[in-house]
Amino acid sequence: MRFKALIVLLVVAITLLASIALATNFGTKKRMPRPQEFGNVIINNYSEKNNIAPVVFKHWIHRTKYTCRVCHVDVGFAMEAGGSDIKEEDNKNGLYCGSCHNGKEAFAATAREKLVTEVQNCDRCHSYGKEVKNQKDFNEYLKDFPQARFGNRIDWMKAEATGRIKLKDLVEGISMKRQAIAAPKDFDIKSTILGMPDIIFSHKIHAEINGCELCHPEVFGAKKGVTKYSMQDIFAGKYCGSCHAKVAFPFYDCQLCHLKEVY
Ligand code: HEC
Ligand code: HEC
Ligand code: HEC
Ligand code: HEC
Ligand code: HEC
Ligand code: HEC
Repeated sequence: MRFKALIVLLVVAITLLASIALATNFGTKKRMPRPQEFGNVIINNYSEKNNIAPVVFKHWIHRTKYTCRVCHVDVGFAMEAGGSDIKEEDNKNGLYCGSCHNGKEAFAATAREKLVTEVQNCDRCHSYGKEVKNQKDFNEYLKDFPQARFGNRIDWMKAEATGRIKLKDLVEGISMKRQAIAAPKDFDIKSTILGMPDIIFSHKIHAEINGCELCHPEVFGAKKGVTKYSMQDIFAGKYCGSCHAKVAFPFYDCQLCHLKEVY
């Protein structure tokens, strides 16, 4: 049964390859992002115009510490590169990056060392096209993390399940205390092609990592089966694709959605 499903998936995969090629820009990007580049976002609404290097925001380093919802709900970052309209003034006022990069939760734009010398940390964020040494090296820091095949090549879910990382779901002064919402029920998404395996979707796991607000009501309606979408839509970065292939694991791994069992 599983074998037959795999054959069907393979056949369909071939017919779909053309659209994947378009959707993921194989043609223009030339290569897959390196593991340390996957999920990096370049922010450049104002930087170059003001003669400073664009900002490189790395999801991987922040994902070892926080749930998605801390940033995308409490702090309020857009789920789109360049979508938040951040100004340095905002950061100084404790908004956006400055919600944490304030010298308490994480390094600030300027710091005092031994109370005398002022250290400028501008380069650490404004690092695009520069050789900036990270405090944490991707390969070194993540070498003991459970491995995956694509994306950052890190199995983030396993890292959390095994206690390798403990994600904060609140940032002091930013997040409001929330009432725990009961974990919603898991469900399969029925395949629309005869013989294709159903899609396993863990509502519970997704709710834990993302919170409800990243999906409802903007991406998915709150009634099962009402939102209609296809694999093409997903490849085009909508629905499941609003996270997958950008920050969560990419599409190459068809089986993770189409065959694999939930933890
Ligand atoms: C924690 C990360 C971070 C640090 C540290 C940081 N910045 Fe920024 N800065 C940003 C982000 C994000 C933007 C928005 C970038 C964009 O849209 O081009 C920005 C924007 C800017 C801009 C664009 C114009 C404006 O008024 O917003 C300037 C200039 C700037 N920063 C200067 C600095 C200087 C100088 C330092 C060091 C004293 C610094 N930044 C440190 C994150 C940072
Ligand atoms: C520490 C804060 C932080 C955390 C935690 C975080 N993000 Fe983001 N995310 C950002 C910022 C900042 C941007 C860029 C927003 C902008 O440019 O205006 C972004 C952008 C995105 C984008 C758009 C990327 C693109 O290329 O268009 C997606 C999708 C996304 N995040 C998903 C996630 C998911 C899923 C998680 C959890 C696994 C997550 N984020 C965790 C801060 C965060
Ligand atoms: C929810 C809190 C939070 C927000 C919001 C946040 N950061 Fe961070 N960031 C951290 C923490 C904590 C670290 C330090 C991680 C460590 O060293 O363990 C960090 C580390 C970094 C690093 C250091 C990488 C290195 O190894 O030197 C950069 C660069 C960075 N953040 C950029 C940004 C930018 C740019 C933004 C806004 C677009 C941002 N961060 C928003 C918490 C945050
Ligand atoms: C990663 C995205 C995602 C997250 C996060 C998420 N959901 Fe959902 N939810 C879905 C999808 C997909 C459906 C099915 C929608 C459809 O088929 O049209 C759904 C359906 C539902 C439904 C309707 C169920 C039914 O049987 O009709 C409810 C209620 C719901 N979600 C509540 C929640 C709550 C509460 C949370 C947070 C604790 C949450 N969801 C988090 C994606 C998500
Ligand atoms: C992030 C999860 C995810 C990944 C990864 C994924 N799919 Fe899908 N796929 C879905 C969902 C959800 C649907 C169901 C849409 C619906 O309701 O019919 C779907 C539907 C399909 C369909 C049914 C026809 C259609 O367009 O809806 C085909 C064929 C398909 N996927 C092929 C693939 C192939 C080939 C790959 C790998 C290159 C892949 N999928 C990777 C989630 C995924
Ligand atoms: C709001 C962002 C978001 C959306 C929307 C989303 N996912 Fe995910 N998903 C994640 C994150 C984050 C993970 C953790 C793994 C990772 O980051 O690679 C994940 C993990 C998964 C896993 C792995 C769970 C396991 O059991 O191995 C599957 C399967 C999956 N997603 C399918 C889907 C499908 C199908 C949809 C659409 C119905 C969807 N996702 C929509 C963010 C999202």
